[in-house]
Amino acid sequence: MPVLTHIEQLATCPPENPQSDAGLISDAAIAWTGDTIRWVGRRNQLPAEFNDETQIDGKGRLVIPGLIDCHTHLCFGGWRGDEFDLRISGASYQEIAAAGGGIASTVSATRAAEAESLLDKAGDALDRMLSLGVTSVECKSGYGLDEVNELKQLSVYQQLDSIHVIDLFPTFLGAHIVPPEYSSDRDRYIRLICEKLIPVIANQGLARFCDVFVEQGAYTVDEGRQILMAASEHGLQLKVHADQLSDGGGALLAAEVGAVSAEHLEYISAEGIEALSKSGTVAVSLPLASLYLAEPYLPARKLLDAGIAVAVATDFNPGSAPSYHLPLALTLACLNQRMTPQEALNGATTVAARAVSAQHRIGSLTPGFRADLAIINAPSLNQWLYHFVPNACTGVIKNGEWVVNMHDA
Ligand code: NIG
Ligand code: FE
Repeated sequence: MPVLTHIEQLATCPPENPQSDAGLISDAAIAWTGDTIRWVGRRNQLPAEFNDETQIDGKGRLVIPGLIDCHTHLCFGGWRGDEFDLRISGASYQEIAAAGGGIASTVSATRAAEAESLLDKAGDALDRMLSLGVTSVECKSGYGLDEVNELKQLSVYQQLDSIHVIDLFPTFLGAHIVPPEYSSDRDRYIRLICEKLIPVIANQGLARFCDVFVEQGAYTVDEGRQILMAASEHGLQLKVHADQLSDGGGALLAAEVGAVSAEHLEYISAEGIEALSKSGTVAVSLPLASLYLAEPYLPARKLLDAGIAVAVATDFNPGSAPSYHLPLALTLACLNQRMTPQEALNGATTVAARAVSAQHRIGSLTPGFRADLAIINAPSLNQWLYHFVPNACTGVIKNGEWVVNMHDA
């Protein structure tokens, strides 16, 4: 039963706390058996039964729950560095999409890629995420947009979940955009999603969630509702890419269908905020997408004040957010969304766990939870999120075992 001791600050992130309280304990210790946490508290209160157990010196560092990136588009072919240049020169994300770039160009690259190369590329990203302290990742399809290629992406996730130590939470995003070959008959594609893809994916257990992108140039509220209802009938839980580039009623739809999360919300309306506060839907903020697209940031203070839980994730994808750096997203959430460090950390741990319906097992360092934790070379949460460095994580313990160990380096 290992005991990690001499921890300068331990963030326990209990699910029952208000988001403003990350359950910080100074001069702490934590003990676990197998993959489950047994005891957490102040070092001088460590029960005698742990005294003879293997002790690991925390070296006066910060210890946090393994981070949960609850919104990514992890598997994709190619990149879109050419668009970066175009956007800097003044073209908008929507203009690039209308000219055949954007999501459609990643769909072409993903369709052309072999499953094996997609697996290698997504696996490499997971390795790097793990080194930053991330231990669970939600991952969306949505760059296949036909039966063969949506199943190819989801099968990559299924394989990666079995071989990589990071836990994956796959989401079917067949309703990302309407694929070009269906542009003159979008109803036929929606029927394919509802009548073929959702049943197959649900039956094969290839996704836990279904997401739709409700936006001009993507799907209408009515189309989104139709797809989400079909998904719900097949036992999938619901998510919505909502109000990202305009107030398109996505948050209202998420609340109406009882979605587990509404994601983006840069343009959420006052009615949308009220609806989410009543439905208990988690808001997922994606500050890296706002940074890269030069769009507004989710108005986190308004949502938190309305009692809505706000998760923070990367949105890692080749277009709007080509970065998997979740700690950077947390610093951006503090700076641009005025989330406190404790609110931001809870947003990438216990609140993120809620966004993937796993808040009773992960995202918190309390007895009974899974022993997924990250050691950060900073004396406090404030210092970590304020003094940005490329990677402050020196150790990751996943399911009770060391999986990254630079702790003594
Ligand atoms: O969440 N908004 C829709 N989808 C992604 C962007 C995907 C892309 O640009 O390839 C997002 O920002
Ligand atoms: Fe996204």
